[in-house]
Amino acid sequence: MKVSVIGTGYVGLVTGATLADLGNQVVCLDILEEKINTLNSGKSPIYEPGLDELLKQGLKNKNLRGSTEIEQNIRNSDITFICVGTPSDKNGNIDLSYIKSASSAIGRALRDKNEKHTVIVKSTVVPLTTEEVVMPNILKKSGWKRENLGIGMNPEFLREGSAIHDAQNPDRIVIGSADDIARETLNELYSPYKCTKLECSPRTAELIKYASNSFLATKISFVNEIANMSNVWGIDFQEVAEGMGLDSRISAEFLRAGAGFGGSCFPKDVKALAAAAKKSKVESLMLKATLEVNDIQPKIIVKMTEERLGVVKGKKIAILGLAFKPDTDDVRESRSEIVVRELMEKGANVIAHDPEGMPNFKEIIDVKMAPTPELATEKADCVIIMTEWNVYKNLDLELLLERMNGNVLIDGRRALDSNLADKVGFDYKTIGLG
Ligand code: UGA
Repeated sequence: MKVSVIGTGYVGLVTGATLADLGNQVVCLDILEEKINTLNSGKSPIYEPGLDELLKQGLKNKNLRGSTEIEQNIRNSDITFICVGTPSDKNGNIDLSYIKSASSAIGRALRDKNEKHTVIVKSTVVPLTTEEVVMPNILKKSGWKRENLGIGMNPEFLREGSAIHDAQNPDRIVIGSADDIARETLNELYSPYKCTKLECSPRTAELIKYASNSFLATKISFVNEIANMSNVWGIDFQEVAEGMGLDSRISAEFLRAGAGFGGSCFPKDVKALAAAAKKSKVESLMLKATLEVNDIQPKIIVKMTEERLGVVKGKKIAILGLAFKPDTDDVRESRSEIVVRELMEKGANVIAHDPEGMPNFKEIIDVKMAPTPELATEKADCVIIMTEWNVYKNLDLELLLERMNGNVLIDGRRALDSNLADKVGFDYKTIGLG
């Protein structure tokens, strides 16, 4: 099938690269020439394990290319995926401006086309967007009759850092279609995947995506609240999580307590769903609480630091981990941002390190950075682990203590073996361990 993908963020690139890998003819479209040039040179504009290889392979076997000629490439394809960003505005509402400009471009592109065409929204959008914003916009700009257009919503469930694996091994594929053209086209495109395919309306697909992300975020905030209780009652939350996770109704996934959830999806999506519900006069108490608990967690890390160091002013504090999770250079809504900002405001001498996230973090906060964890922790009074990268999990704790000035070790992600840290002589503190 001839596929065009609008937007070369991680969703667009991973969608394009994996569909090309299935043998489709894919063109990835973006207005930013620099991104397209990078893509056409066989490099991913973002850090995502395995993506470079898949892009190179697609370019080599000519199943994949990038282009800035948006309308012409849409016209020449059978199906167009909208994979543009849907950021939050300052009140948490979804900002649909990129969705609107993508649908206008599709409408203009279809003006001179005579064959049927399918348009699928993959971006995360609040319920009714596909039917009430995207479809009317395309029909208006193209002058097309409704029966020639396939319209659908097909959410992605990709985790950054394992997006290729998730795209190639889906748990389920949600096919939200407004008509038979979209339903049949998506079923054909995804026929190589043997997982459950759930057929539903576009608005149901839109809510499945928000409800899934919000549920996972709520699960994290819930365990964080229980972990905070464990701290004061002298209980190890990891054992509690193990006990909970053995119940198949709960599952052992997403029970890791710590500094809270970050990234480009959970914080934005929970806010957008709550704001959309409020607009429709439904108040969401659960989503509000989920966000509130998440705001508290990084503050607990700062408090733990202050309790141990007394004043933090003038103290050298090494922050290990700036990315919102391991295996990504993405620092959006990273919990480290809050911790670094607060400690700097309190006058601490903060030195940070991250294997991939330092350039992106530098654009948010001008904090001192060290090229290695060893240099970051040299003569530090306190070390705080904010992202559970393997390089930190594998730190030689004895050497770390020798390098440091003090012995305070705060583990915001329960990345280390607490017994070992105690044995080596650290004043070790983590969320969820009394
Ligand atoms: C998330 C979802 O997991 C994907 O299914 C979804 O497709 C994606 O959002 C999206 O909407 O595009 P992602 O943001 O890449 O994926 O990362 P997760 O692995 O879900 O982690 C999100 C945050 O939660 C991270 O900051 C992580 O450290 C935190 N987390 C995760 C916890 O604090 N505890 C856990 O047990 C799990």
